[in-house]
Amino acid sequence: MLVSQQQKLQEEIRALVARHGRTRAALMPVLQELQEKYASITDFAMQVVADELGIHPSEVYGVVSFYAFLHHEPKGRFQIRLCQTISCDLAGKARVAKQLENELGIAFGETTPDGRFSLEWASCLGMCDQGPALLVNDRVYTRVTAEQAHRIIEECRSVFGAHATQAAHA
Ligand code: FES
Repeated sequence: MLVSQQQKLQEEIRALVARHGRTRAALMPVLQELQEKYASITDFAMQVVADELGIHPSEVYGVVSFYAFLHHEPKGRFQIRLCQTISCDLAGKARVAKQLENELGIAFGETTPDGRFSLEWASCLGMCDQGPALLVNDRVYTRVTAEQAHRIIEECRSVFGAHATQAAHA
């Protein structure tokens, strides 16, 4: 995004926050208006909303991940966002990223063909001293290693396993 576009968006978000109030309660209406206008909510926009409302960026990511209507593209049932900002980068996010891509057989920006997982890059989640940080829907994981990334995916997959078993017994 060009700097001037970013500035414009930033000003717009400031105006929205001024209208809805600088409180956590404004989060949803602000996101809805952004979604209506831009058809999607970028990482940059989420970051600015968090700054303007004085809340943790992971909270904004969490809300956007949770409410499917706040996306313009279909996403996986589990949306995995790995922080790619400098502290997490230095803390070894590349190994975690490789592990996630290998486990899921997709690259960042993609969704698995069965619609179960999406992999996305995120900007700083506000957990810089505990990187690498990642979000699975609205749940934050910190100091993630490649092994832990494997376990996280297994945990998510077990949810589908449980559903399949329930369906089989129904
Ligand atoms: Fe990754 Fe801040 S740099 S959480």
